[in-house]
Amino acid sequence: MTAPILKNDIFLRSLMREPVPYTPLWLMRQAGRYLPEYNETRARAGSFMALAQNREYACEVTLQPLQRFDLDAAILFSDILTVPHAMGLGLDFVAGEGPRFAHPVRNEDDVKRLVVPDLSKLQYVFDAVSLIRKELDGKVPLIGFAGSPWTVGCYMVEGQGSSDYLLIKTMMYSRPDLLHRILEVNAKATLAYLNAQIQAGAQAVMIFDSWGGVLADGLFQEFSLHYTRQVVQGLIRDHEGRVVPSIVFTKGGAQWIEEIAACGCDAVGLDWTANLAQVRRRTGDSVALQGNLDPMALFGGDAAIRTQARRVIDDFGPVNKGGHVFNLGHGISRFTPPDAVSVLVDEVHTYSRTKHQI
Ligand code: CP3
Repeated sequence: MTAPILKNDIFLRSLMREPVPYTPLWLMRQAGRYLPEYNETRARAGSFMALAQNREYACEVTLQPLQRFDLDAAILFSDILTVPHAMGLGLDFVAGEGPRFAHPVRNEDDVKRLVVPDLSKLQYVFDAVSLIRKELDGKVPLIGFAGSPWTVGCYMVEGQGSSDYLLIKTMMYSRPDLLHRILEVNAKATLAYLNAQIQAGAQAVMIFDSWGGVLADGLFQEFSLHYTRQVVQGLIRDHEGRVVPSIVFTKGGAQWIEEIAACGCDAVGLDWTANLAQVRRRTGDSVALQGNLDPMALFGGDAAIRTQARRVIDDFGPVNKGGHVFNLGHGISRFTPPDAVSVLVDEVHTYSRTKHQI
């Protein structure tokens, strides 16, 4: 079966630093709880995992934000924690408390048992990717994703979200050999997982290193970036006759921007604390940049949203060669009024058109 022609490839062209008529945008967590229709589908599915593991539901919620807003990319509806779930750690989402693992990885025995999971356990994800591609019918490209080995490792060791990373950092300082072993398994699993998403039809991939920024300088390179690099360098480069660009997003990673940009990725994601103009000077034309509006700017009312969107576009500077993908600096808040997103999309598209030459 040949894929339908991609009607809007601005996102992919911008990632490859090619000329584009306006700055493309999509939003991290664009399919999520700020949309009443998402909550309705989630209620029908019964739980987050039931939603993610059923390809029809996953496809339905992936497409919901595109039906409302003129976004330039779709992102697979799934989670970064599907990989450790497939490793047998027993993922559950406790209402109001976020993810929990029944069998966290805490000691030498746990680490010894850890293996790269059989990809058939993640077949539901690849099936969702194929179905979403079919339903998108070439409207916009589909982004596949995974967590970075370090960020996924945080949940595997802590067993849940953490504010101080006490358990994983204790392991890092006292038994770095154990943590390196976990990260090696994670890197291999993540690479196989992303390549299978590409083969199923993902047209770009993003690695979420949401907690890379909690590491000290030196340790970030050793425990996070090293493994992210292994994943990026093993990714399938071309599929369906086109380059499959990769994006690496390290929250809190602006101080390491040159090193992240050199890992082999095509684009680097930035949170809202990064100075986009300065980052661009530091990276030159070596990578595209994605970000970096504070998600809370969407609570400021229409005028503030438009001002802040223009500020990000102006900070990026000249766009003749593309290279900018507008996004938030982290996931959209569940309390965001959906109308705020319509205002943002309108401003990014309208204002950025005045800055582009084609
Ligand atoms: O962006 C999208 O629209 C695609 C879907 C997506 C989800 N999670 C769905 C989701 C993506 C890309 C993720 C990535 C993810 N998951 C990350 C990295 C990005 C980031 O936010 O830093 C992380 C750290 C996770 C782990 C995770 N999943 C947490 C901590 C939680 C609970 C926190 C919360 O927001 O409640 C989840 C659950 C989750 N994953 C939700 C969604 C829409 C909300 C849960 C729900 O519907 O009950």
